[in-house]
Amino acid sequence: MMRKEIIHFNPILPKLDGEAVNYSQTKLESYVDYYQNRDQESDLSKVIYEVEYHENGLVEGTKGGLFLGISHVMPGTVGNEFYMTKGHIHQEKDTGEYYWGMKGRGLLLLVFEDGTYELEEVSQGSIHYIPGNTSHRLINIGTEKLSVGACWLTESGHDYVNCHFPVRVFKKGEKTFEVSNSTT
Ligand SMILES: [Fe+2]
Repeated sequence: MMRKEIIHFNPILPKLDGEAVNYSQTKLESYVDYYQNRDQESDLSKVIYEVEYHENGLVEGTKGGLFLGISHVMPGTVGNEFYMTKGHIHQEKDTGEYYWGMKGRGLLLLVFEDGTYELEEVSQGSIHYIPGNTSHRLINIGTEKLSVGACWLTESGHDYVNCHFPVRVFKKGEKTFEVSNSTT
């Protein structure tokens, strides 16, 4: 019998509290090539996003379980391209996922099997179903941290290579954004 670790959800920050919470951080240096104007950011050691998730004792790749986490994407830009996650498709491609907006203002870029895409606005209370076979990436277009909850299957896994994101999102003025085709 698996030992159940108790965690709590703090809705104010928002964050997960408890001993059974794991964290991972992604610094700009690990994926600066993903940005169009990558030479315009000097602080490569900056943490662009972090993920906290319930350490529930399940092993990625096994079937039938669920993982729960929160992604936090910092506000800012590289050049004028908004901070974003690396983006991924699931290794077990035909597995879906739920995201939900907790705080901040962002976009969820979904790229479907046929290459078409959608940009869904993410804000507190928004709910997003990500179908299987769909690449997905979060982009922070606001001025505060973007926090997004996620629930995905233990068998899903993350594939950062076999996904393609055809558009980029740039800052335009103080409160608007511009979507451009990606040339790389
Ligand atoms: Fe995912």
